Amino acid sequence: MRAHVSVRTLGIVAIDVGERRIGPSSGRLFALLLYLTSRRGHASSRRVVQELLFPQAQNGQAAHSLRQLLYRLRQLAAPIQADADQISMPLELVSVDWWDLLDGRAPAMSDLEQLSHGVFPGYSPDVSESYREWFETERAEISLRLSRSLTTHLTQLRGGGRWDMVDVAARALLALDPLSEEGTLARAEALAIAGSKSAALGVIDEYLHEVGETQSQLRVAPRALRRRISERLPDVSLRTTDDQLFVGREDAMRMLGAMGAAARAGGQQVLLVWGEPGIGKTRLLSEYKALASLQGGITQMYSCQPHDVFRPLGIFCDLVEQLLQAPGALGCDPGARELLERLVSTNTHLGTAREEASAEAPLTAIVRSLSDLVSSVAVECPVLILVDDAQWLDRSSLSAILGVFAGRSPRRSCLVLASRNRALVAGADSYSDSVFSVRLNPLAPAPALELTRNLLRSDMRGDTEVERHVLEQAKGNPFFIRLFCSHFLATTDAESLKHTVSEILERRLEQLSVEAMRVLESCVVLGKNCTFARLEALLEVPRHQLLRAVEELDDRALVQISDGCFLSSHALLGEAVIKR
Ligand SMILES: Nc1ncnc2c1ncn2[C@@H]1O[C@H](COP(=O)(O)OP(=O)(O)OP(=O)(O)O)[C@@H](O)[C@H]1O
Ligand SMILES: [Mg+2]
Repeated sequence: MRAHVSVRTLGIVAIDVGERRIGPSSGRLFALLLYLTSRRGHASSRRVVQELLFPQAQNGQAAHSLRQLLYRLRQLAAPIQADADQISMPLELVSVDWWDLLDGRAPAMSDLEQLSHGVFPGYSPDVSESYREWFETERAEISLRLSRSLTTHLTQLRGGGRWDMVDVAARALLALDPLSEEGTLARAEALAIAGSKSAALGVIDEYLHEVGETQSQLRVAPRALRRRISERLPDVSLRTTDDQLFVGREDAMRMLGAMGAAARAGGQQVLLVWGEPGIGKTRLLSEYKALASLQGGITQMYSCQPHDVFRPLGIFCDLVEQLLQAPGALGCDPGARELLERLVSTNTHLGTAREEASAEAPLTAIVRSLSDLVSSVAVECPVLILVDDAQWLDRSSLSAILGVFAGRSPRRSCLVLASRNRALVAGADSYSDSVFSVRLNPLAPAPALELTRNLLRSDMRGDTEVERHVLEQAKGNPFFIRLFCSHFLATTDAESLKHTVSEILERRLEQLSVEAMRVLESCVVLGKNCTFARLEALLEVPRHQLLRAVEELDDRALVQISDGCFLSSHALLGEAVIKR
């Protein structure tokens, strides 16, 4: 009987011969086995093996010691084939764990975690100098093959927005090749996107320090990324782990990535992402925005609110205002610039003044002027504009913005709109070859389950009954998945999962204290203008009371606190509050 030999190099170092495990503590026995498995299917000369394992011994003594080792291996039923001159192991009876990582399939999180400890973690053979040399070459070759394959996967994970996995994959890549530029950049990006801006900058600085001043070609990309991270990313507070997981949108992210790449190459486009409330439009846009701002260029996102419908040219002016500050804006035609500046200066005085200003200038002139501004900015750097909740854009902003971005123009810019309403760009037929629209579908079952498991507390995971209820009720809608999971965690009542979404929203609101409810209502009314100071002024309550109410809302994940402002956590929740 010849046993199967399986070599484990990831996570732990061991060789299993059938049921028996041989570890590095077995010294030369392990070293021989490792050598023979690495040369599986090829014969090795006894003389060479003797030199590797027993360089100090006399010839006769070395041959004897090798025979003894081979005898011990045969006792274990290791498949050794040997004659007077050569030794080998048959290919088909040897398997090695890292092979599985080279078959092109995306590695699982557990594989990546193991890889992040490197190959042969902790193994440092002291058999002989020449054996050590052989082993280091072997390890370097394996590391090279693994890091090539990992680099490909890393690109896919980045494009798909799986930053949780990018982080681990980048660490794995750095474990294999500590000076990997791809690994360093991806690790810094993952940290930056998770909100650890200073840690991200630290990773890049350390790398720059390692490669030193002399290798200037290795410093270009990290320097550029460093600048983008430090200039473009806000110092946001760390996202909670709940918020970090972003699942099942690899295709949508790739599509956005392809569109961004086309735009950077000078092909202007407009994309409408539409889908039901809570399906993940805002999340998709924010994830893409984070990725795009690391790639350079101007990336701006505007979120419309229900009252924007009544702000003629409101969002349009917000956009103009920021573009006027952008590099390259000075290259804009002076007449166009003057018209836009006039429009914007009335933006602060709500209502009539701007209507007057826009009444003076017909829409076509406004569109032409902004188009000129976008063109001058895009000469300097690509322009990516994202407009979320575009169903609340006022009509004139919508037609003006579409007029600017949907026109065919070889310009480095693009516009992404997210809307609950698919018919938003229906009137833009005249530009049909540059306006695309895609529906954001419910999450597929596997990512929906991944999200559910992640949100349920660890002791509830594996409760397939609860998971099944959540998945059935939520139908792939991530907002509903979150709602059902947090409701279940608060009540631990599986029966309650059978209620409808609006019943559950209603119940969650019922459980709030009076103060917390008032604060939530104010958040909804103030929308994106909701700052702490405004809340204090509006509610006229002592600060400590306000803080307590905010904490209560935060504990129940009903508000999101960001940059000193806080917003009600979701438009759907806002609607439930208004309905009450
Ligand atoms: N792919 C995803 N993975 C994990 N969580 C997600 C995903 N997509 C969305 N979410 C979460 O689900 C919730 C709802 O998503 P989001 O706000 O993006 O929906 P929406 O389509 O913009 O809804 P609305 O039309 O009401 O604005 C958010 O908490 C968001 O973080
Ligand atoms: Mg949204």
